Amino acid sequence: MNSWVQKRDLFVIVGVSGDLANRKLLPALYRLSHDVPSESRFRILGVSTDPACSDNTFREKSQKSVKELAGVDLDSAWLDETLFFQSIGQGGPEDYRALVQRVESLEKSESLTGNRVFYLALPPPVFPVAITRLGEAELNEGPGWTRLVIEKPFGRDAASAESLNKLVHQYFDEKQVFRIDHYLGKETVANLLVFRFANSLFEPLWNRDRVDSVEILVAESLGVEHRGRYYDRAGALRDMIQNHLTQLLTLTAMEPPSSFDADAIQHEKVKVLHSISPIGPGDVVFGQYARGEVDGKPVTGYRQEPDVAPDSRTETFVAMRLRINNWRWQGVPFYLRTGKRLADRVSRIVVNFRCPPVSLFQPFVFSALRPNTLEITIQPDEGFDLRFEVKSPGVPFRLVTQNLHFRYSEAFQKSPEAYETLLLDVLLGDTTQFVRDDWVEASWRLYTPILEVPPQVAPYPAGSWGPKEADRLTSLPELDSATAATP
Ligand SMILES: NC(=O)c1ccc[n+]([C@@H]2O[C@H](COP(=O)([O-])OP(=O)(O)OC[C@H]3O[C@@H](n4cnc5c(N)ncnc54)[C@H](OP(=O)(O)O)[C@@H]3O)[C@@H](O)[C@H]2O)c1
Repeated sequence: MNSWVQKRDLFVIVGVSGDLANRKLLPALYRLSHDVPSESRFRILGVSTDPACSDNTFREKSQKSVKELAGVDLDSAWLDETLFFQSIGQGGPEDYRALVQRVESLEKSESLTGNRVFYLALPPPVFPVAITRLGEAELNEGPGWTRLVIEKPFGRDAASAESLNKLVHQYFDEKQVFRIDHYLGKETVANLLVFRFANSLFEPLWNRDRVDSVEILVAESLGVEHRGRYYDRAGALRDMIQNHLTQLLTLTAMEPPSSFDADAIQHEKVKVLHSISPIGPGDVVFGQYARGEVDGKPVTGYRQEPDVAPDSRTETFVAMRLRINNWRWQGVPFYLRTGKRLADRVSRIVVNFRCPPVSLFQPFVFSALRPNTLEITIQPDEGFDLRFEVKSPGVPFRLVTQNLHFRYSEAFQKSPEAYETLLLDVLLGDTTQFVRDDWVEASWRLYTPILEVPPQVAPYPAGSWGPKEADRLTSLPELDSATAATP
């Protein structure tokens, strides 16, 4: 039984009829609580615009769609005891006053704690109106604690992120706000901090003296699927780089925090963003997938996907080179690369260490000496690989690369899903794995100049590793410290 959720708090999901709620949130809340006795379990109030829905029809619908989308069977007793429904109709002030009444009456009838979570599982353009209505209805504070969860994307650029933060802070204190980036709920991502700061082995190597470059790759073999309408207005820079890859970057590059406390960790992550030099046009390559083959099957190009403009210039691939202009990382390039319809589905961080200063074995290797690398795989097959050179037995004298490896799946039972971890953190009030206001603004400020003057979009065949133009980034000479300095 999950002893962490034995409290009768109220979880309000606004947008409960949507894909996210049925694919991720309801299954995660079910897993967290199905074996907790009803008398000590939280309650869920689903909110949507449907005026005709009742508690019972909502339970039936949820059971069906969670089964369809997530393959999870919500049992009927759990549904009857845990799930309730409230319509917000057109979403006007009077609809939110009705929501207040429903929340209060549920808290009474179900003997709840008065602690409330409001989860905005809504399309991003609806965030401002929903936050305003919650605030105007005074749902920003209640008899216990109140927490607000906001999905990604948080803003479209620096100005929109700042104005959304301003609106949020009009009603909610930052301590009440949980901005989601589901990458932060993945075990391997959370483990980056443990890996770096609970082991003394790597920290002395984790700097410009020993590291030659760092690569962060998030590759998807899928195309845009049913998300064409959203994706064609977003693109890979907004959808992946600004949030997921930049989170991995700041966790990899940050200094040791003063304590394992959410604010101390967030502070160090934000400092990394402030140290990154402005990104020049020559540091970025955009690509868009054309027809090709994935897993031996022909697939269509991006412009032929549903809901995508036939002359779209939206990027489905980004490669970029970043410079972190601080004492630890000066001169070490960080390469970020992400794309859809690439050759494989993999997310990983590769730390390339410097080669030995003198190549004693040059006569015995047929190519340049390979550097030691540390590869951290985020998905699939989460784990670590440390690669080093050994002599192969016998003659002739030859060097081969071998591997020390660790796999989560071999060492532990199945890890919880990212949303399960994050929802539990919301209930516990732990903001460590969420996105703070200054992080999201600093991240958008870094990328907004590229969004305003985007580079040409180079086509690449589906099933490849992206446009060949991207390879030029890794062969660029490093800038010296004077040129790379932040103006
Ligand atoms: N789906 C995913 O796997 C996923 C993954 C990562 C992040 N996200 C983020 O999660 C959020 C929700 O995504 P989703 O895929 O669930 O979106 P969705 O299915 O398009 O929409 C969610 C719900 O929002 C409600 N809604 C739409 N317009 C509204 C309006 N004007 N006023 C009030 N409610 C409105 C709709 O419910 P009713 O009209 O029935 O009330 C709809 O079911 C988005 O911010 C998305 O970026 C989703």
